[in-house]
Amino acid sequence: MNGKVYLVGAGPGDPEMLTLKALRVLKRADVVLHDELVSTEILAFVPSTARIQNVGKRCGGKSTRQSEINSLLVQYALLGLQVVRLKGGDPFIFGRGGEEMQALREAGIEVEIVPGITAALGAAAAVQIPLTHRGIASSLVFLTGHYAESANSDHWPDAIAPNTTVVVYMPGHNHDATAQKLRGAGVAPETPCAIVSRIGSPDERICQTTIAELSSIAALPAPSLLVVGEVVRFAQHRSLGEQFSQFVAGRLEALPGTRTQERAL
Ligand SMILES: C[S@@+](CC[C@H](N)C(=O)[O-])C[C@H]1O[C@@H](n2cnc3c(N)ncnc32)[C@H](O)[C@@H]1O
Repeated sequence: MNGKVYLVGAGPGDPEMLTLKALRVLKRADVVLHDELVSTEILAFVPSTARIQNVGKRCGGKSTRQSEINSLLVQYALLGLQVVRLKGGDPFIFGRGGEEMQALREAGIEVEIVPGITAALGAAAAVQIPLTHRGIASSLVFLTGHYAESANSDHWPDAIAPNTTVVVYMPGHNHDATAQKLRGAGVAPETPCAIVSRIGSPDERICQTTIAELSSIAALPAPSLLVVGEVVRFAQHRSLGEQFSQFVAGRLEALPGTRTQERAL
């Protein structure tokens, strides 16, 4: 008898963001194929008897092709195993879960989807930005920045309505291109935005700015995402204090005769 494949969302990193269902499925797995972004704390729930295989894209390193992942999932299931395909966030949000589901369906393998908390929701909670808010934000758009710089950028909407919160996954380092695309879609230059980096990890950070200033801020460590919209004004996080101190320090440095020691805040 064939086994079954579970496409499981692991959430943004913090093991407490895993659903009870994901935990139950993980604990019964024979094989786990996971993405690079899945934390070691979450992998610790996998039974010691199970095979764990990293099929994620490592920074600058070798990654497993999607076709190979699809065929591994099918092969393991044909051996009658309970297979977990564990992905960061949610499997159906920029996670290629749809492609894997199709490949499994074509091979006649049973597949079940276990949703996870997508990075946008994890970020919103971590930095206290309500993605919708009555009277301020009544629609929400998830985009991938992957295409912002490429000629093939039709993936971005031509127009973004006012009162919309936009979350850009994989915003990359070319903030200028992203800001231009957003402005081209009608987002006003004074619209607040924030890069939120490494949600759920001890070095989680946020950097708050506006679309007009976005190109001048340094990229934060990956993974990160960009949140755009009036609701960003609600953001609260310990790292915003650091950003303010750096801002003040930068201004003081620009003053003639200000010595480094005098800048200690
Ligand atoms: C290939 S997409 C996968 C998204 C995932 N399926 C989800 O639902 O969150 C990877 C992108 O998700 C975002 N991301 C994932 N985990 C994150 C985290 N812990 N902190 C910030 N952004 C994260 C980043 O934009 C990253 O480049």
